[in-house]
Amino acid sequence: MRLGAWLQPGDVLALEGDLGGGKTTFVQGLVAGWGSAEHVVSPTFVLVNLYRRDDGAPFYHMDAYRLSGPAEALDLDIAAMWEEAPLVVEWADIIAEALPEERLTIRFAWLGELQRTLAFLPTGERPRHLVRRLRAAILRGL
Ligand SMILES: Nc1ncnc2c1ncn2[C@@H]1O[C@H](COP(=O)(O)OP(=O)(O)O)[C@@H](O)[C@H]1O
Ligand SMILES: [Mg+2]
Repeated sequence: MRLGAWLQPGDVLALEGDLGGGKTTFVQGLVAGWGSAEHVVSPTFVLVNLYRRDDGAPFYHMDAYRLSGPAEALDLDIAAMWEEAPLVVEWADIIAEALPEERLTIRFAWLGELQRTLAFLPTGERPRHLVRRLRAAILRGL
């Protein structure tokens, strides 16, 4: 919920990890934090979902699972998406070369039925700032 509220256009979150890792569930929290009451579903077949906040501000949610690679992502003009809004991508490793170098990679791993681990791997100043802020909020217990 926190992280979603801090996102702004230009922010790219690259989610990696196997099926069942918790990527779509994480996006539900992000979108709620962003301030949209819209229902989040996996965009595996439609490729991209758009959620709007009450004030109309957009948030893009892409699933790269069915893309052949970075070229197909560029055909979808994903740069225009992240310039307009925050963009979160599931299966981001498939299209890594089409994403900006400055991004927040989050790697999901399945530990057991009720346990997941998330590794936050920021590259660039803005993603590092987001992770520092998140860590501080968690340590304060907020
Ligand atoms: N942090 C979590 N802890 C425990 N279970 C989770 C967590 N995140 C997701 N799940 C459960 O794992 C399953 C797969 O989640 P999902 O978000 O669809 O994964 P993905 O999008 O990575 O394939 C769902 O049943 C979901 O309820
Ligand atoms: Mg998913």
